[in-house]
Amino acid sequence: MLKRIQELKEKHNVVILAHYYQDPAIQDMADFVGDSLELSRKASATDADIILFCGVHFMAETAKIVNPTKKVILPDMDAGCSLADSAPPDKFKEWLRNYPEHVVISYINCSAEVKAMSDIICTSANAKKIIESIPKERKIVFAPDRLLGKYMIKETGRDMVLWNGTCQVHEIFSEKELVTLKVKHPEATVLAHPECDENILIHADFIGSTSAIINYVKKAEEKEHIIVTEPGVIHQMQKNNPSKIFIPLPSDTGCSCNECPHMRLNTMEKILDSLENLKHEIILDEDIRAKALKPLNRMLDIV
Ligand code: 13P
Ligand code: SF4
Repeated sequence: MLKRIQELKEKHNVVILAHYYQDPAIQDMADFVGDSLELSRKASATDADIILFCGVHFMAETAKIVNPTKKVILPDMDAGCSLADSAPPDKFKEWLRNYPEHVVISYINCSAEVKAMSDIICTSANAKKIIESIPKERKIVFAPDRLLGKYMIKETGRDMVLWNGTCQVHEIFSEKELVTLKVKHPEATVLAHPECDENILIHADFIGSTSAIINYVKKAEEKEHIIVTEPGVIHQMQKNNPSKIFIPLPSDTGCSCNECPHMRLNTMEKILDSLENLKHEIILDEDIRAKALKPLNRMLDIV
């Protein structure tokens, strides 16, 4: 399968971009693995003719927005995101009517239509910097992640109006399980993604994007780490630090996986099928794409 994927990649001049929440085999096969910010930068800079995006729909859509002359394909068109789905464009438009004076900051996990209604985009890697780039006297609405928004209000001291969306993976981590693990592994650091709720984040030694967490582990002296994000990140951590121990935090349903059901829809079989048939292509309305590009470029210019 890998040989055939390689042949097709060369034949069609394809670059394969993958998020850290993909299956380890997909991460190992990709040309580049990164967090949302790094992936959007890679997508905008590539000179390949086709971008095969191993991630979810909003990520592939972002690649198309920033690099419209490329064909962008996604192995499974159903690979969505609970955060992006929480903000249907018509409802979002209506809601924004209540805040005509506000600067609209949207987390990159949203649709092209929502991006097109936003003033600036952020990711988990740069949210603080983006919020701080807005003059203090301006009011802000932050969408669609209420939990990241709540954490950012604490971090920046800015009083933002929040859209009520959440990530279905990060909102169900169990505080009880986390405390149990901390008692069992008193030397372990707790590394959490800011899409988690406050009751989880208060226990964290470090809070950051997927790449930030991976980089933290590289430099950390501690041997054991409790990982409070999608466990796909553990693959890179284990590769970079073979002697360290990584403990994934279970959800409140007792499941020890916490895999994102959308991210994990992509498989090697579907990737091969995508390359054989050059599908499923991301097609965007040009007006929406051009409007969505402005807030994305504003972010990319800042960080
Ligand atoms: P980052 O990789 O940007 O931290 O995003 C995490 C995530 O949930 C992506 O869907
Ligand atoms: Fe969306 Fe959460 Fe899955 Fe990321 S982990 S794609 S935010 S549902």
